[in-house]
Amino acid sequence: MVNIISAGQPTEEAKYEQFMKRIEAGEKIEAEDWMPENYRMTLIKLISMHGISEIMGALPEKEWVPKAPTLKRKLGIMAKVQDEMGHGQLLLRVTEDLMKPLGKTREDILQDLLSGRLKFHNVFHMETKSWGDAGLIGWLVDGAAIITQTNMLDASYGPYARALKRICAEEVFHAQHGEAIILALAEGTKEQRAMVQDALNRWWEALLMFFGPGDAATTGTSKQDTTIKYRIRTKTNEELRQDFFTKYIPRVLSLGLELPDEEMYFDKEDGLWKYQQPDWSKFKEIIQNKGPKSNERLRLREIAYSNNKWVIDALQH
Ligand SMILES: [Fe+2]
Ligand SMILES: [Fe+2]
Repeated sequence: MVNIISAGQPTEEAKYEQFMKRIEAGEKIEAEDWMPENYRMTLIKLISMHGISEIMGALPEKEWVPKAPTLKRKLGIMAKVQDEMGHGQLLLRVTEDLMKPLGKTREDILQDLLSGRLKFHNVFHMETKSWGDAGLIGWLVDGAAIITQTNMLDASYGPYARALKRICAEEVFHAQHGEAIILALAEGTKEQRAMVQDALNRWWEALLMFFGPGDAATTGTSKQDTTIKYRIRTKTNEELRQDFFTKYIPRVLSLGLELPDEEMYFDKEDGLWKYQQPDWSKFKEIIQNKGPKSNERLRLREIAYSNNKWVIDALQH
């Protein structure tokens, strides 16, 4: 029974019960609505990490704008970089609204990134050595992002669900752009095919890690359970990783590429792909800014911020 105190004000428990009823009924929660602290904090962590990863993700791709092989490819990758920055802006705006009651601002998000409190996605700490890497990021990293983000299209938090709708539509173009690069290379010379295989071999582990650890017990985190409980997403990390395999492994093989995991197979009995686990201790290190390019990219972000700070200051005064 709902517990209402005499003044007619609902208690915290009653508000929580009402809140859970709303999300279980598929209603959307808006920025100004009452929400439990844990829900707010979960959203802030998730969306700020997503938003800042979009921005940090533009950095490794930006490196390939001047080096892209043709004008058409240059324009394609430039448009993608621009889109990713736009995704970051959209998501940071969503985060800003959630942080308002806590007295935190967008400035704090950047400071948290630079101090290491706010993590960004493991894939964006990696090096992009070749044009094959640039294609593979679009094809498989954006492909993986489409899988995780479409899983949240019906998120209980309205502003995030709406932002994702637009983001996902653009991500589909990114995946097509990446696939077009990879297809051209795969149909090209022996050296070009070797470039794709090499990119796949080097990115494989990062791609497996993209979805996060599968078992909360081994990582001591119940983050995925919280997001599922609050209907922010529906599938677990492992389910998403399996969806990725099901979608992309036939495509990888159809291009004549070899899977970097020789022991990998599809188990018909349980309908799951069996694969070698990546080194999860390495994953933890990478997201703690100990990846091959972590410091360099953070420095780039810091320089971009300090060089442009006068614009923010001028707009605020
Ligand atoms: Fe994006
Ligand atoms: Fe993208």
